[in-house]
Amino acid sequence: MAQLGTLFGEEAEDGWWAEESQTVTVNGAGVPDPIAIRELQFHVVNAHKVWPFNERFMGWINRNQQYFQGKHILELGSGTGVLAIYMKKMGWDVTSSDYDDAEIEANIVFNATANHTSFPHIRYTWGTPLPESLSGGKFDLIVANDILLYVAQYDALMDSLKRLLWAATVPGQPRPMALFCWHRKAKGVRPFFEIAAERGFEVDHIDAHDKVWLIRAPPQPTPTAVALPVPTPEKDSTTPSPNPIAAAPAPTSTNPSS
Ligand SMILES: C[S@@+](CC[C@H](N)C(=O)[O-])C[C@H]1O[C@@H](n2cnc3c(N)ncnc32)[C@H](O)[C@@H]1O
Repeated sequence: MAQLGTLFGEEAEDGWWAEESQTVTVNGAGVPDPIAIRELQFHVVNAHKVWPFNERFMGWINRNQQYFQGKHILELGSGTGVLAIYMKKMGWDVTSSDYDDAEIEANIVFNATANHTSFPHIRYTWGTPLPESLSGGKFDLIVANDILLYVAQYDALMDSLKRLLWAATVPGQPRPMALFCWHRKAKGVRPFFEIAAERGFEVDHIDAHDKVWLIRAPPQPTPTAVALPVPTPEKDSTTPSPNPIAAAPAPTSTNPSS
């Protein structure tokens, strides 16, 4: 990844990062041109820079395109948008997402435009209810690079991941999945994937060298039958009701004194 200085100086005038951004290039395997990314000087949730291993993950993605072709891909924790831009340039249907944060969104839009591409972005903070744009079940592949730094957010992330994968589950169709690339080991913390497996996720370390994990959702709870009260039909009603609950016979009294 090369440091290129301030390629985008003139476009950045209206942002607080105007004089503090820098541009890096990322070489994505399988796409003809390097991807130029504006990094912000700082962002409180680490969305400001291209995190390590994006290029390595791109190499793996290029060699394993069968997971991506024909899918509706949602990226979690897109940061600068570099991986979403790469996947879009590979020709796939991709939507980026990150915290509900205007600066992150603006930087992703900026970077996509600078690389002559565009895709939808959804502001979504893990652990919050899925907005309509995410709950419809469109996304059958979830992709993320380097988003497991935040141990305190593992519960929120697993909760969102489960709900996203469940939303996209269609009986008789291939199960939706997530592909996470993660290279680090947090000291004294049990790995995310170990905890996910304990919680019923299906976790497969499909590439130990490039550190790619495939995750499927735990089984969905089956809805439990709810006993509804049986209403008494009106005495003089002659028209049979089409509602089977209303058509049920009235309960007979078992009280011997009545
Ligand atoms: C270490 S950065 C990685 C960014 C990008 N994937 C990359 O590899 O360059 C982690 C990303 O996860 C996002 N993130 C962290 N916690 C989040 C949360 N609770 N909800 C949504 N996004 C979150 C951050 O904003 C940041 O963009």
